[in-house]
Amino acid sequence: MPLPALRAGEVRPTDGSRAHVVSRAYQHDLNGSGLERGAVQVEVDAVHLHFGGVVAIEEVSLEVRQGDIHAIIGPNGAGKTSLLNCMSGLYRPQRGAIRLHRGDGDPVDLTTTRPSRSARLGVARSFQNIELFRHMTVLENLLLGRHVHMRHRLAASLAWFGPARRQEIEHRDLVEEVIDLLEIPALRKLPVGALAYGLQKRVELGRALCMQPAVLLLDEPMAGMNAEEKEDMARFVLDVNELAGVTTVLIEHDMGVVMDVSHQVSVLDFGRCLVTGEPDVVRSDERVIKAYLGAGSEPMGAGT
Ligand SMILES: Nc1ncnc2c1ncn2[C@@H]1O[C@H](COP(=O)(O)OP(=O)(O)O)[C@@H](O)[C@H]1O
Ligand SMILES: [Mg+2]
Repeated sequence: MPLPALRAGEVRPTDGSRAHVVSRAYQHDLNGSGLERGAVQVEVDAVHLHFGGVVAIEEVSLEVRQGDIHAIIGPNGAGKTSLLNCMSGLYRPQRGAIRLHRGDGDPVDLTTTRPSRSARLGVARSFQNIELFRHMTVLENLLLGRHVHMRHRLAASLAWFGPARRQEIEHRDLVEEVIDLLEIPALRKLPVGALAYGLQKRVELGRALCMQPAVLLLDEPMAGMNAEEKEDMARFVLDVNELAGVTTVLIEHDMGVVMDVSHQVSVLDFGRCLVTGEPDVVRSDERVIKAYLGAGSEPMGAGT
C-alpha cells in the first residue's frame, strides 16, 4: 500500500484515486508544536516502570523528532502501551524522565505532569479501546476534543449560551476543518454509536486532532479493522502528519503499515528498547528478527 507523499496544503482526492492531488487551504494550524521540523521533541530518558514484580519498561531511551511518524512495535506485553501511558502522564515511571520540548523555555518532564496538564501542553492520545461518547453526535464528540482550549464550562458551551456561544462558533470552525480533513462531513449529526467501527476510530483520531496536538499518541488505531478500513486509517494518519505536520507516535502490529508510513521505528521486547531507526534498518536488524521469530510472530516485513 505505498501512498504518494503530499505537499503541505494538498489533499488526496476523495474518490479513492491517487493519480492527482488537489489543493486545499487551511485556516487553522492544527499542529500545536512550536518546534522546527526534525528537532528532538520527546526525549524518553532511561525510563523504568514496574508493577509490583512485573517489569513493564526497563531503561528505555529513545527520541521522537518533530514531524515524524514514530512507530513503536513489539510483541504483546512488550511494554508499548505502558510507554505511551507514561508519555501521556497516565502512568508514573519509578525512574527516568520523558522530556517534552516546546521550542520556548525549558522542556517539561511528562513523568511528573498530570494527564490534564499534558493534554493542555499538546500531548493527545487515543486509546486502544474506543473512548467516545456513543450517544453524542460526531460533532459533539469532536467539540469535546476542544475543551482543553475552552474558557467556558463545557456544559454551557454545549447548551449554546451567551459568551459560550461566541466561543463555540470559533471552536466549531476548527472542528469543521478537522471534519473536512477526515472526510466525514456527512456524519457530523449522527450519534457515534451508530457508526461502523472504522468510522468510530476515525472520529477518535479527529477528537485528538481537535486538540491541536503537539504530539499525537495512537495506540493500535487500526486494531480490529478490515483491510479497507486499515488502508483508510493509514491514509488519514499520513494526511494528518503530512498536511498538519503533527508528530505521531504510533503503536501498530501490522508491519506492512508500519514500514509504509513510519519515519522511525522503535522496537520494544520484554520492556527493553532493542533498536530505534529507519524502517529498512530496523527490519534487517538481527536482534529484531530474533525477537520476532522468538515470539513466534511473522517475520518482519511480511505484512498482514
Ligand atoms: N496497570 C497495570 N497493572 C499491572 N500490570 C500492568 C499494567 N499495565 C501493564 N502491565 C503489564 O506490563 C507489561 C507490559 O504491558 P503493555 O504495556 O500493555 O504491553 P503491550 O502494549 O506492548 O502489549 C505486561 O506484562 C502487562 O501485564
Ligand atoms: Mg498495548
